[in-house]
Amino acid sequence: MSDNTGPKMVTLTIEGRTAVVPEGTSIIEAAKTVGVLIPHYCYHPGLPVAGVCRMCLVDVEKFPKLAPACATTVMEGQVVHVHNEKARTARTGVLEFLLINHPLDCPVCDQAGECELQDYTFQEGRAESRYEEPKRFNPVEDFGGDVMYVPNRCILCTRCVRFMTEVADDPVLNVSERGDRAFIGKAPGHDLTNEWAGNVVDLCPVGALLSKDFLNKARAWELDRSASICTGCSQGCNITVETRDNTVVRLKPRSNDDVNLYFMCETGRLDYRWINRRDRLDQPQVRSPDGALRVMDWEVALDAAADALRGRRVHVLASPNASNEALFLAERVREASGGQGWYRVSYGHEAPLPGVPDLSLRAERAANGTGARLLGYHELTGAPTIGADDAVLIVDDTLEQHATDALLQALRAAAVLVHAGTTLPTAIADRVHVTLPLANHTEEEGTFTNLRGRVQRFLQSRTAPGLARPSWYVLADLTERLGLTASLAQPAQVFDALAAAHAPFAGLRHATLGLRGRLVANAAEFAEANAGATT
Ligand code: SF4
Ligand code: SF4
Ligand code: FES
Repeated sequence: MSDNTGPKMVTLTIEGRTAVVPEGTSIIEAAKTVGVLIPHYCYHPGLPVAGVCRMCLVDVEKFPKLAPACATTVMEGQVVHVHNEKARTARTGVLEFLLINHPLDCPVCDQAGECELQDYTFQEGRAESRYEEPKRFNPVEDFGGDVMYVPNRCILCTRCVRFMTEVADDPVLNVSERGDRAFIGKAPGHDLTNEWAGNVVDLCPVGALLSKDFLNKARAWELDRSASICTGCSQGCNITVETRDNTVVRLKPRSNDDVNLYFMCETGRLDYRWINRRDRLDQPQVRSPDGALRVMDWEVALDAAADALRGRRVHVLASPNASNEALFLAERVREASGGQGWYRVSYGHEAPLPGVPDLSLRAERAANGTGARLLGYHELTGAPTIGADDAVLIVDDTLEQHATDALLQALRAAAVLVHAGTTLPTAIADRVHVTLPLANHTEEEGTFTNLRGRVQRFLQSRTAPGLARPSWYVLADLTERLGLTASLAQPAQVFDALAAAHAPFAGLRHATLGLRGRLVANAAEFAEANAGATT
């Protein structure tokens, strides 16, 4: 029974620690609140409970037999033992059964180092096998999309089946056969080309479902990991960027209940190669009197950029994947000079994930279109109006997609073109006065605002090439030279200056954004304004 102060709370003891959790909580979740991880395979907080693996058996006082912690709800005064001999012996037995047909593949398995079968066997499995008979063998199967199935490694936890059936609403997978012949089957004529199917690879606790894209690219322990935000669309899924030797090799979802739960789509997951592109700008360049772009020191190039912009009306053409911080600083230049602020964005199909409310691959294929709009930029659909004496500051628009002749002509006709970006667009390379090399979003820190008005931080994952610098750093140096900002030495300072200057961001502080983000002041309007996109 609930009262109007919230759900009824239940107090119990788990491994000698007192847990106080809402009524209806499972023992496995209650244990997490007091820092106890109960071993498990089939249980996942983003899936319906199945209770099929028995790896989560715990000893509950006064219960006649061991209880599965994932499928048993807490009771007042309950006393739970996770690591006493009775519970551990049972789980050691479960592991022994799971390993009967599991091959000794760890040296060649992509999951090694992040495999829950490895981890729990090391933690509480038998030291040696008593099984001498030949192991079952089934050939590897291409499941379609980015997914490969290695049945010999499968422990039949059914996480993949439940995800495709209950969350993706695309019941392609099933448990075929029974007993030790059981394996995960695929419905005839169907495959895992669903936009969200790649999540089964993350959900699989062992190396039975693998990403074809990541196959044999790296061992788990060779990877560096950083918290980031996907730039694939305006949903703003929380992700982990994984790099090996400064190269991005894999993107994985990072949980955030308010944005993407535990999942990410294939469009966002697999579109990362551009991040590693080799044709990056890595030195500042200034147009010399002989007409050629010459490499210069940063100080010389920034002075040249400020001199070129000073006294002119400056329009800004910014990427909707630029950070809030970069957009804010460029906006200062535009606003002070009376120019226009534009962004261009691509659109694609929408692909909701049926089992998770308000999670979809969004039509707007950029991370920060909302941030751009909040900061005074307008979507540019036709050719811009640029006066003969005007300047244009380009902020990381590569001019590679949908750059019409009319747009390029208008840009080329500007009196001054200052470019700050990761690559120099060839269509305007001969007209640019100064070009300033920027880090991309994996090489700097910053924030994006998603379509619901959630401001979320992304962290640096790797180093930028050559002398390229973070966008906030370059634009803060430029605005300081133009007398528009006092010295801003940290991305946090830039964000706090942004929040102080723009009403929707009022009340937000970089220090309190955390890694789950905070909503802008008028987020309710945003939810409504964007509601037509997808429910
Ligand atoms: S393939 Fe992986 S997720 Fe699916 S049942 Fe087997 S072990 Fe579980
Ligand atoms: S839904 Fe959008 S933000 Fe989320 S993973 Fe896909 S492309 Fe990235
Ligand atoms: S995790 Fe509880 S039975 Fe599988």
